[in-house]
Amino acid sequence: MQLVTPMRAIKSNMLLTRTDAVWGYYRVRASSISMQNREALLEFKENWSKFAEEMIPYGSLHLWMYPQDAQLAQRFGDLDDDLADDSVDVAQYYNEEAVHILKERLESLTKYDFIIGIKMRSDMVSLERSMKDNVTSILSRVSTQVMNTLKLERTVYDDAFLQYQEQEDVLANAVMAVQGMRLTEAELVYMNRFGFIRGMEHEVATVSGDIDIESITNTVIDPTLHRTLQLTAPEGESCITSLTVDEYLDNMAETDLFYELQKMPFPVEVNIKAVAEKKATTKTALGFKKEQLHEKAGEKMELGDNIDKDILRSSGLAQHLKEELKNEHTALWNWIAIITVTGKTKKESLQRARMVRSQLKNLDIKAKIPVADQIDLFYRALPGFELDLLDKNWQQKTLQDGLAENLFGVNAEMGSKIGFFIGWVDRFSKHLDLQNAIAASRDFVLFHPFLANKQITASKTKSPHILISGDTGGGKSFLAKLLYIYSCFLSIRLLYVDPKREMRKWINKVITDGEIQEKFPLFIDLLKSIQFVTLDASNPENWGALDPVVLYDAHSTDGKEMIQVTFEQIYQFKNDIVETAFLRAITEVRERRAEGETVGSMHIIEILQASEIEEVRQAGDLLYEKTQDSILKLMIHDGSNPALSLNQTRTILEVANLDLPKAGDSPEHYTKPQREASAVMFGLGRYSELFGMNPDEATMVFVDESWMYNATPQGQKVKNSMLRVGRSQDNAFVSITQGVKDEKRANFGVAFAFDEPTEREEVLDWVGMEPTKENITMMKDFYQGQCFFKDYYGRTGKLSVECLFDEWMGALQTVKKSQTAYAEEKYL
Ligand SMILES: Nc1ncnc2c1ncn2[C@@H]1O[C@H](COP(=O)(O)OP(=O)(O)OP(=O)(O)O)[C@@H](O)[C@H]1O
Ligand SMILES: [Mg+2]
Repeated sequence: MQLVTPMRAIKSNMLLTRTDAVWGYYRVRASSISMQNREALLEFKENWSKFAEEMIPYGSLHLWMYPQDAQLAQRFGDLDDDLADDSVDVAQYYNEEAVHILKERLESLTKYDFIIGIKMRSDMVSLERSMKDNVTSILSRVSTQVMNTLKLERTVYDDAFLQYQEQEDVLANAVMAVQGMRLTEAELVYMNRFGFIRGMEHEVATVSGDIDIESITNTVIDPTLHRTLQLTAPEGESCITSLTVDEYLDNMAETDLFYELQKMPFPVEVNIKAVAEKKATTKTALGFKKEQLHEKAGEKMELGDNIDKDILRSSGLAQHLKEELKNEHTALWNWIAIITVTGKTKKESLQRARMVRSQLKNLDIKAKIPVADQIDLFYRALPGFELDLLDKNWQQKTLQDGLAENLFGVNAEMGSKIGFFIGWVDRFSKHLDLQNAIAASRDFVLFHPFLANKQITASKTKSPHILISGDTGGGKSFLAKLLYIYSCFLSIRLLYVDPKREMRKWINKVITDGEIQEKFPLFIDLLKSIQFVTLDASNPENWGALDPVVLYDAHSTDGKEMIQVTFEQIYQFKNDIVETAFLRAITEVRERRAEGETVGSMHIIEILQASEIEEVRQAGDLLYEKTQDSILKLMIHDGSNPALSLNQTRTILEVANLDLPKAGDSPEHYTKPQREASAVMFGLGRYSELFGMNPDEATMVFVDESWMYNATPQGQKVKNSMLRVGRSQDNAFVSITQGVKDEKRANFGVAFAFDEPTEREEVLDWVGMEPTKENITMMKDFYQGQCFFKDYYGRTGKLSVECLFDEWMGALQTVKKSQTAYAEEKYL
């Protein structure tokens, strides 16, 4: 074969080759489908198979997956606008740290990008013959050199491209079926250069500048190394090794080549060049093959041998193919798959190629690392290089569904494009522990905790709220705290309702740590900017801080109900006369409050105590006594204290001596302190709602143990009111709870679901995973810190949560692993 770069010229997303072919290039937006969701995968492959069918008339395809620089630093840079003035330094410091730590572990930070090239049909070019002849003859006669000097180049090429524009429009429309979009001209230039600078650190922007062939191929390729090419370019140096797929399983089922190779602990590139065969050719060849097989079988029979299983199978397959090909929409695709890895040294590159080979072997795919053909493979993989049907090396033959089995365009991406680092995708593989799962992943996950005020394109959700659910000890609060600290970087007003009082302990431990003070002053300052408010019923200043008479306006029915519920936690109204008096007293007190009088819930009791009716008086006295040593003093007071008011930007709100029941306990069996605690939780809920209601200010409220609201109808009402605040008021609510059964999906734009032994099926269904046995087992095997993550785009996967910064964890010394060994240890 001829070792030349096929590219001759580029215009927008079209590539003109030296053989006068024109290719259109498109980016396929990857779909994130979990491998556990069999049905979704099947649907994806069917769709792809249909697309390949559409492509038969074009005849030639290039499917290309390459590791694209993730531009992590730039992504973090894009967060700058969202940062709070007093947090800019600390946020930038930690984002830089994140880049640094991730680079140390992964070496290069990449995300897989999918490109598809389609050769356009020259027979469809609608051009007057004379003109066509004219252009093609110029193209074939005049060398690039001459054209450059004549400055003819661009016009001649432009004419050529112009002829294909109409066809390209049709193609651009067709690729939409697989989420394809035109590449820009700069992108196509970059993609043409890419092969020459693989494995070298480079800035995409600077590469895509020059469009001429000299700049694009400006690399010295040394083919003299064994099984490796050495590339030397202005951008740097690298070694590359290519493998070819030699043999697949017969039916190609679940080959998933593109997806499987994303699991490697280093970047891998895959190029498939495919050509649809003309039917007549295929049929004759198949007929011939079948005859041969029959003959072979016949010979064996005559010799008295058993018919070889292989022959039977091949004969069956040939028959199957023949049947399939009767269908006029089917064609036989011939294709080669070239897998390319890079390394700093020849040794590294080869070692990685071997790792790919053994990984593929596990999947029953035989791959080879050709010795002498490395340079061939280099050129074959370039854009615009068409597979030559006569060159049978490494060619696979399948129907379009076989091509689709390679699963082109599926990745495991989750999270937001711009956001903070929260952990890693676990592609549902088996690992020894959380650390191991983290070390084996290259798919880092970014998350922006507050997108309430942003309209995200392609977002599946309108809700800005976040659900964190799971059984006790799974890692909910750990994740919530991590998100809270990241949220402190943002310019939003924050409230964390912490009924278990976990945060203060943890934050104090860090603030008072001498070593952290010295090494991480920015972090200490950030923590110091958080205000702790403890509502303590033994402190008279806190009395009435959550008084429903004060927190609800006088005419809201919710307010009346909340007052009732609060009192019902300590007194059971069995007597109609008493209850009537009580309800009247509520109305009276609320009206007095509305008229400006300083009154509170306590006045309801006072009114009862002053009643002329004996029973009512008694009830009033009893209520008075019951509230005296109770946490309910926070809610029942005389209105002389102002309601809770939080002026600081970042607050953590806790309640002293809150006796929370266990999740799942039935409210009828709550003890008195537990009933009081649930009334206080209602008050906190109402307060959170008010906190979020200011439309001029972005607010975010975290409520831990929010399952308390699901236990009773009143609680649900309180929670629904909190959820209703939402986007229109620039508010996001993070609900940290156990169980998803009682949660409406539409209420939460994002969910983190940790394991929940009693509700596995519900959880799977809730996050959009098929509730299969396999998935239930998989969920059972979640380690502490692992959860399902359903992101703003409706994508679901398994996430290993990680906090990258030791000082955040309050723990100091953690063993640091050495550089690249980190990600690769799984394979060693
Ligand atoms: N991603 C993680 N990385 C490291 N340690 C973790 C992680 N997630 C959880 N842990 C550890 O597990 C402990 C328990 O987690 P956490 O307190 O978040 O549980 P929880 O789900 O909130 O439980 P509960 O319902 O009882 O409040 C944490 O204190 C922490 O030590
Ligand atoms: Mg917790």
